[in-house]
Amino acid sequence: MQFRTRAIHVGNKKDEATGAVVRPVHFASTFVQNHAGEWREFDYSRSGNPTRKSAEETIASLESGSHALLFASGMAATHAATMLLENGDHILAGSDIYGGTYRLLHKITNRSGIEVTLSDSRNLEQFEQQIRPNTKLIWIESPGNPLMSITDIEACAAIARRHNVLLGIDNTFASPALSRPLELGVDIVMHSATKYLGGHSDVLAGALVVKDKELFDRLYFIQNATGAVASPMDSFLLGRGMKTLDLRMKAQSETAMQIAERLAEDGRVKRVLYPGLPTHPGHEIAARQMTGGFGAMMSFEINGDFEQTKKFVESTKLFQLAVSLGAVESLIEQPASMSHASYDAADRAKHGIVDGLVRISVGLEDVRDLMDDLDQALRSAIA
Ligand SMILES: Cc1ncc(COP(=O)(O)O)c(C=O)c1O
Repeated sequence: MQFRTRAIHVGNKKDEATGAVVRPVHFASTFVQNHAGEWREFDYSRSGNPTRKSAEETIASLESGSHALLFASGMAATHAATMLLENGDHILAGSDIYGGTYRLLHKITNRSGIEVTLSDSRNLEQFEQQIRPNTKLIWIESPGNPLMSITDIEACAAIARRHNVLLGIDNTFASPALSRPLELGVDIVMHSATKYLGGHSDVLAGALVVKDKELFDRLYFIQNATGAVASPMDSFLLGRGMKTLDLRMKAQSETAMQIAERLAEDGRVKRVLYPGLPTHPGHEIAARQMTGGFGAMMSFEINGDFEQTKKFVESTKLFQLAVSLGAVESLIEQPASMSHASYDAADRAKHGIVDGLVRISVGLEDVRDLMDDLDQALRSAIA
């Protein structure tokens, strides 16, 4: 079955008891057993829930994986992956990563005696040199957040294999509609399912997807032992959202491309970071490893200081001032004061998260209205 068909049918069999074409939401926390000490498929909702399982089957199929686990949030999913490591191990992460992942690695993971190094994963030669004998996990994002940096995923997977290190990727920005890293040799795909998979700003969930049963068993053990599972209602909404993922992602990517082209010609904008533009340093790699579009996230730097940038992001009317991304409504934010405020100021400067940087998540609105909105906000912020 093709991607769109799987998004609708895998994990979504009709309800045998009633014939309902949409499966019911199973809110039960516990399940009756036939005999003491003999377990049916479901026994307790932390360990497994039918609604969660349906959505897990869908996401596993869309990511070309064999198994998926749904968590209470993207951070809970990333945290579970880091719990594969032990005291004395080392994580090598890309430098263009979500601020919350940076905070998890530097303020929580490090407490367990796990060392963390950030390095620019666009430069794989230098990146590989950061691998140590105790490196157990490499963690990247592509496109990265917020600079839209592109990592050559296949080449990075070859490096990870050579050093016998697990490679995890946060695939939130691309979604499986545009990029399927497990097909390129990655071991663990992570999602903030809160974003494109859900797609409507009404779900908080995270996912880990793998293609190896042994790795799945280790992650399942961690999930069940620590308990940050996705709720039945979030799992249901996620399953519903994924049915339109491909359509949304492609339409939103098309709109983003048009906006990026327009902004690139605007004298009030210093630079546009969008992998679909041929001027983007990662364009060729993105064109090779992304299919059907370059995503609907972009950042750009306006010709303004911190205050003017703040005024700009506060002046849009359709683009709503909010963190998060990936839904049908367009959002805007200033990474330096919002999504990446949890970076140390020095790390922000080092990694190019400057005050004039603006990040937008392009939604499903008409492209003409979105362009007009950015134009009027630029006029009010930059005299
Ligand atoms: C790229 C990326 N990864 C991870 C996360 C964390 O996900 P959640 O907010 O669902 O915990 C986010 C949230 O904004 C994100 O943008």
